[in-house]
Amino acid sequence: MSMETLSASIASGQNLQSILRENRVFSPDAGFAAKAHVQSLEEYRAIYARSIADPEAFWAEAARELDWFQPWSRVLDWKLPEARWFVDGKLNLCHNCVDRHAVGTRSEKTALLWVGEPSDEVRRISYRELHEQVQRAANGLKSLGIRKGDRVAIYMGMTPELAIAVLACARIGAVHSVIFGGFAASAIADRVNDAQCVAILTQDGSWRRGAEIPLKATVDQALAQTPSVKHVVVLRRTGSAIAMQAGRDHWWHELIDSVQPVCAAEPMDSEDPLYILYTSGTTGKPKGLVHTTGGYGVQTYLTTKYIFDLREEDVYWCTADIGWVTGHSYVVYGPLANGATVLMYEGAPNYPDFSRFWKIIEEHKVTVFYTAPTAIRAFMKWGDEHVERNDLSSLRLLGTVGEPINPEAWMWYREKIGGGRCPIVDTWWQTETGGIMVAPMPGAVPTKPGSATLPFFGIEPDVVDRSGNPVPAGSGGLLVIRRPWPSMARTVYGDAERYRKTYWSDVPGCYFTGDGARRDEDGYLWLMGRVDDVINVSGHRLGTMEVESALVAHAKVAEAAVVGRPDALKGQAIVAFVTLETEHSKPESLPALKDELKQWVTQEIGALARPEEIRFADVLPKTRSGKIMRRLLRELATTGSIVGDTTTLEDFSSLAKLREDEES
Ligand code: PRX
Repeated sequence: MSMETLSASIASGQNLQSILRENRVFSPDAGFAAKAHVQSLEEYRAIYARSIADPEAFWAEAARELDWFQPWSRVLDWKLPEARWFVDGKLNLCHNCVDRHAVGTRSEKTALLWVGEPSDEVRRISYRELHEQVQRAANGLKSLGIRKGDRVAIYMGMTPELAIAVLACARIGAVHSVIFGGFAASAIADRVNDAQCVAILTQDGSWRRGAEIPLKATVDQALAQTPSVKHVVVLRRTGSAIAMQAGRDHWWHELIDSVQPVCAAEPMDSEDPLYILYTSGTTGKPKGLVHTTGGYGVQTYLTTKYIFDLREEDVYWCTADIGWVTGHSYVVYGPLANGATVLMYEGAPNYPDFSRFWKIIEEHKVTVFYTAPTAIRAFMKWGDEHVERNDLSSLRLLGTVGEPINPEAWMWYREKIGGGRCPIVDTWWQTETGGIMVAPMPGAVPTKPGSATLPFFGIEPDVVDRSGNPVPAGSGGLLVIRRPWPSMARTVYGDAERYRKTYWSDVPGCYFTGDGARRDEDGYLWLMGRVDDVINVSGHRLGTMEVESALVAHAKVAEAAVVGRPDALKGQAIVAFVTLETEHSKPESLPALKDELKQWVTQEIGALARPEEIRFADVLPKTRSGKIMRRLLRELATTGSIVGDTTTLEDFSSLAKLREDEES
């Protein structure tokens, strides 16, 4: 990111700050606090102070709550930007999530409570059963020759077998790369090729809003471009006819039926990679963030325990798809390491009607519910009547993640879903951080609508200027983290330099989050969104680059720039500025071409990236070095005019032309 963008972002952050004035404060309910892991603000502050005075001692104490095959010799080796946590320690996260609960009092406890989209299918899988199923799946993978260190892509719907596949990889030490089931073939191929995956685990199809998403057919398209893939394992879910290639494609059920139900968990080094997860950057191809085993296991375990204030009898539901980091950390690893009952729902929130989520909560007596602001805004739009029909009194805690939550949505969530009695944990973190970094301790920290409040133990965030100096309370600045934490991503797969440059070079000595924030007089953090060009659609980060590349790949498109425009429902909506190849610059039907391009992007990358609006332009505004100035386009798309700083603009006439295009 250029300094010019940085400073512009900080400036706009300060503007934001003057708009958002929120004075409501909600203290934890006394009854909730009395049973909570942390029961008062004083207690939270005391533990936090201890954790910051000696973070290694704090994290070591936490790590002792997991099972280790071999203890660590040092808690942390840190040489910026390289961290090694629990050095020489050996453990297995599948063992920690499954085996240790499968014996003793939790063996018959439901681990996965799965609700299918159609016809109210429900499956309850106990820890004992999960233990058997992950061992079979692990042996199945081994029977294909998959070994520790191999990369395995997983492109599935939200079935129990997706969680089982992830855990089976962890069990044998294969590095999983889960690819969200909404991505198109070319996005799968890019990710599979980047990590050189040897296998893809998929399904015939998955259910979404009553229709079938043909996963295997999409994988088949990707396979034409992925020579590293030797095996494809296919779960039968919908029963639709699919092509199976002998020797390469295997049915999941046949594979696991043919193997033994016992498979020892591989002792993994604390720093062995656990998974790769791709996320968008501002430029270039998606980044494969690499998470390792020990530190990731410890932080996801501990944050789940404290922030969701887990109790043995909880029915915990995080609505995220396992294809995103939230699903990795807070559907699979964190809650299962705690021995929780995890509810997993296969389908859409509005199928067969708008009250599906609330029916699930009522029927299964969900106690902890964790979702995204974009979903909350959709629920609000659909209308209170869909909520009010259901009994939500089992809920005792609510959470949000993925983007800043506007106070109106927060209040609605609190009143309509939480009945005014449930604490809301607004959790700030990132794919890169692996686990929650900032969130209220629910029995201890008073909440303010729209603020993620205070840091988790051992985490030291700060709001700074470009040189790393803290900005005064109330001012906007860059959110940084001042010291390493256990679940931090260790690198970008195959590109250590990109990791260093992206996260550890903008602000001296600090991890730069890419987010703007301000800290109020009480030390509460208020997130202000990304300071770069990345677009956040429905809580998912999309790089401008990927969408632009897809547009430019269309025969009629010369150049494209995409920006996010605030959108009441999705957080941001994509607006694409497109210049056409000269011979197509006066196409017969511009509206038809707009539709064609939207469809094209959907097909190339996936529906999430579909532009809401396409605007044709003669030229795009660029800097002297040739970089498109998306900041100006964003302004145009949002306000209809450009008044921002244009000093680095190469060709001023481009703005005049853009305005003309706007009017025509
Ligand atoms: O901008 C922040 C926003 O989402 C980004 C991280 O996106 P991703 O890696 O896809 O992970 C999403 C799930 C952890 C952050 O840099 N973000 C996430 N949570 C919040 C948030 N912004 C404000 N408040 C949050 N609670």
